[in-house]
Amino acid sequence: MQAVILVGGLGTRLRPLTMTLPKPMLPLVNRPFIEYVIKLLKNHGFDEIILSTGYLPATFDCLKDDFSNIGVKVTCVSESEPLGTCGAVKNIESLIKDTFVVFNGDILTDINLTHLLEYHRQKQALATLALTSVDDPTSYGLVPLNSDGHVKEFLEKPSWDEVTTDLINAGTYILEPEILSYAPSGENYSFERGLFPLILEKGLPLFGFPTSAYWLDIGSPEKYLRAHYDMLDGKVGIGLDMEQVRPGIWLGKDSKVADSSNLFGPVLIGPNCEIGENVSVTGPTSIGENCVISDGVRVESSVILDGCQISGSSVIKNSILGRNIEVGRKVHIEECSVLGDNMAVGEENWLKKGIKVWPDTKIGPGTIKF
Ligand code: GTP
Repeated sequence: MQAVILVGGLGTRLRPLTMTLPKPMLPLVNRPFIEYVIKLLKNHGFDEIILSTGYLPATFDCLKDDFSNIGVKVTCVSESEPLGTCGAVKNIESLIKDTFVVFNGDILTDINLTHLLEYHRQKQALATLALTSVDDPTSYGLVPLNSDGHVKEFLEKPSWDEVTTDLINAGTYILEPEILSYAPSGENYSFERGLFPLILEKGLPLFGFPTSAYWLDIGSPEKYLRAHYDMLDGKVGIGLDMEQVRPGIWLGKDSKVADSSNLFGPVLIGPNCEIGENVSVTGPTSIGENCVISDGVRVESSVILDGCQISGSSVIKNSILGRNIEVGRKVHIEECSVLGDNMAVGEENWLKKGIKVWPDTKIGPGTIKF
């Protein structure tokens, strides 16, 4: 069966991490995020996957070979300009053969796609939208349903007195190919604001499927951190591809941790890392491969990607470090700060309050002190 994954967005809210890698290729506990989406699809019988790319399209090419050995065919189709969520699917209409699923490429979920597909078929729907409930419905587009599961209306960011449901569009749809005949060709067009409201207006069979599956879009730094915390805490029905050396501690091949250091799980450390003397790493924390964490460093609730070197007595807390970053001595990186790839922070800097530092920046010693 076929699936289309939308991966062409710029991922602006996750800059600077997305300056060098598109959001769906960013690591989640050390594997490209999109791998989890592809594996979920494969587990539910979707073995022909079309990636609708646009931004940094070449970064997705490696996936074609990576999945062929487990029987998944991955095809990449690139847009020359962003066509929006529906426009991107309209663009590959000629490749679609039968009922198919569309997935936003930035959603972490363990949704049961087999149940979603069964429901879609039982209702003889033209489109079925997976729906998830949220705590604050006023910041989302709501999708109230009739008692038979038909979509009743689309309510965009309602005030509290307009709220009649807490169900929102989860960015996963089962569609019949003929629905695309209602979408315009070659223009920017969205499912959420364009095609689905049009289908509703025409009285065609548009259904919603409420699910209590885990659901999170990884679109902002806070949510990218949250996705790591939830994966490491075992809250997502997706296992980690590494053996635990003891409960809550995953240590990659050839990584060394000095006896005087403490790891308070859940902590995952990739291969070829060195953790020096008197280091403390408190979970949930994920550290990539080839990282060096020197003596006396404290890391807490953070994500550190591959190839980072953290010098002595620095503190990394609730923050995200991109790839190949050098951090000098006595540096504090805290409060959801995000550092882009290949940068260097000289000693005794204090990066806080969600600061975002662009890739390749060099910050001299003692330059930033909040
Ligand atoms: P922001 O810029 O931070 O809003 O992120 P984004 O560009 O990823 O947009 P959004 O979160 O709304 O996108 C949801 C999913 O759809 C992501 O997986 C995007 O990659 C994808 N997407 C968004 N717009 C397009 C588009 O125009 N074309 C394609 N092919 N995919 C898109």
